Formats: sequence, structure tokens, C-alpha cells
Amino acid sequence: MSQDISPSITRREALARGVGLLAAGVFFPHGVFGPRVLSASGGPGIVGPEILTRAIPSSGERIPALGMGTWQTFDVGEDTSAREPLREVLRIFVEMGGSAVDASPMYGTSEEVLGDLAAELGIQDDLWWATKVWTEGAPEGVAQMEESMGLLRRPRIELMQVHNLVDTETHLATLEAWKEEGRIDYIGITRSQSRAFPEVERWMDDERLDFIQINYSMAEREAEDRILPKAAERGLAVMLNRPLGGGALFGAVEGRELPDWAAEFDCHSWSQFFLKYVLGHPAVTCAIPATSNPVHMRDNMAAGYGRLPEDPAIRRRMVEYLEG
Ligand SMILES: NC(=O)c1ccc[n+]([C@@H]2O[C@H](COP(=O)([O-])OP(=O)(O)OC[C@H]3O[C@@H](n4cnc5c(N)ncnc54)[C@H](OP(=O)(O)O)[C@@H]3O)[C@@H](O)[C@H]2O)c1
Repeated sequence: MSQDISPSITRREALARGVGLLAAGVFFPHGVFGPRVLSASGGPGIVGPEILTRAIPSSGERIPALGMGTWQTFDVGEDTSAREPLREVLRIFVEMGGSAVDASPMYGTSEEVLGDLAAELGIQDDLWWATKVWTEGAPEGVAQMEESMGLLRRPRIELMQVHNLVDTETHLATLEAWKEEGRIDYIGITRSQSRAFPEVERWMDDERLDFIQINYSMAEREAEDRILPKAAERGLAVMLNRPLGGGALFGAVEGRELPDWAAEFDCHSWSQFFLKYVLGHPAVTCAIPATSNPVHMRDNMAAGYGRLPEDPAIRRRMVEYLEG
């Protein structure tokens, strides 16, 4: 494991030093400290020596467009040898400008492992915390969310989401009160299957929501039809689960070369090809790929730097290339 950076280094310190970016293949044609704004869509995206950020429509707060999922990857319990690479995954994530982490009480020991590792690294305040409620009943929901906050070791959580739309109306009432009290900043709902989009779409009319979390990747593009346009129209932030198609996309390109023209949007790996595609959609706020591999984390985070494929013609070409 690399020992070149103190484990307690903050994201801002690391970025100021440009640590790890060049090693990850991040290339700034105008120099590391020369800011540049390349987003064709103006406000939503800022790309430069710092990671791409996007604004949350309901508040204007900007968050890095690449976050991190924890389903399966962080569910390792007390196993110290399995925790070791995850500590490095989390350290690299923050070092390379990431902050939004997504957990759930549904993910076994992931909340506890994430909370422990963030505390060990001393990066708790560098993270932007999202978790979920996944149970039925108001008191059960409150008890579960309080337990999550204990496991994550956070007195407050930035984003609380109703996982898979379980007992949504009940939990939204609680979350509205919690937001008033300042225990959370944002309210969201999640689903991860395109067949559930009609239900997601109905909830998107609910004024209490700040965020939706849905599946969108080059393997699952259904959200482009109605969900993403509606999110933009309604001013909802969009967090993407399964942005790598649950890993299936890598199988689809096994043995295939990245096209030369991917370099035109600063893309140097298949992972960056997949992630830059989803980040190139202007309605997307944040994608949360999951990995337990530090090398993959570096690769994935590099997708948050440089140009994005925002031009519809380039995006069509990417899909055609993948399908070809
Ligand atoms: N309903 C919901 O609320 C819901 C549902 C699903 C997911 N989610 C959230 O969304 C997050 C992401 O979704 P996901 O974990 O299902 O799928 P994903 O992020 O699309 O894919 C994860 C898979 O991709 C592999 N991978 C990641 N980076 C890679 C790279 N650079 N090269 C090769 N392989 C790579 C990982 O394996 P390695 O570990 O080997 O890298 C893992 O098997 C979850 O962790 C969770 O937080 C929410």
C-alpha cells in the first residue's frame, strides 16, 4: 500500500498538491493549476484542476459528480484483511476529490465498515453522507435511521433516501420533519430497476423530494427517455446507482480496444468511457460506482476530470461502438 500520504490528509490538501492525479492518468492540457470550464451546458458542470462538480437544484450546493457506492463492496464485517483494501479505496476516493458516499441498512455491515474506516482515516468531515431507510412503519423507520447514524458515526446525514420505495409516504413525513430539525439536508427516493420507473415518475411530482437515485448506465439507458428529462424539468438532483451496469459492462468489452477518439474527451480506460458517458448527461448530479479495488477506484475517479462527451453525436457514437 502506498505510504506517501498521511492517512489523515484532507481532500483539499491532497488536491492542492495534485497528489495521485497524474498517476491516475488525469491529464490537464492547460497545466494542473490552470482552471478551465469546458461544460457545453454552462452552469451544471465545471471541469478543471478539481473534480467535476454539479449543483443540487434545490439548494445550489455543489457536490463532486463522482461518488462511491458501498453495496456488497463494504459488507466485510470485522474481517481486517478485507478492510485493508477498502481503507485504501476510501482514502484514494477522497484524495482524488470524491465526497458523496452511499450506504444503506440493507447492505449488511457496510454502514459500520464505512463509518469505522472514515473515522480511522480522519476524513469524516470530507465526506458527504447518504444512506437510506428500508423498513415499514414510522417508529421502525426512525429507529433504523438512528441506528444508521450511529454506525456511520454521524450526528447528521446530508441525504436520507427511502430505499426501493418501501413505505414511502410514511418515511417522507418523518424525513420532512427531520429536514426541518436540521438532522438531514436532503430527502430522496431510490430504485434500481428500469421497470420501476413508472412508480419513480409518480413520486417525482412530490414537492418534498430533493433527490432521486436510479439506475443509469450504458447498459441500462432507459432513464434517458423520461426520468432524466423530468428530473431536469422538476429541479430534482439525480444520483446514479449501477453506473457500470453492476460490472456487466466490463464483460461486454472484454478483449476490445478503446476507440482512439475516446481521447477527445480525455478518456483513457473502459471504466472512464462508461462513467463519462453517464456524467455527460446534463441532468445527472452524481454517479456512485462501487469498487473494492484501489486500482479501480483511481481509474474510476479519473473519469471526473477533463472533458465530457456532452455532444449528442459523440454520445450516439459511443453507444454504437459499444453495441457494435
Ligand atoms: N436500490 C438502490 O438503492 C440501489 C441498488 C443498487 C445499487 N445501489 C447503490 O449504487 C452503488 C453502485 O451500484 P452497484 O454496486 O450495483 O454497481 P456498479 O457500481 O455499476 O458496479 C460495481 C461492479 O463494478 C466493478 N468495477 C468497479 N470499477 C471497476 C473498474 N474500474 N474496472 C473493473 N471493474 C470495476 C466492481 O468490482 P470491483 O470491486 O472488482 O472493482 C463491481 O463488481 C451500490 O454500491 C449502491 O451504493 C443502490
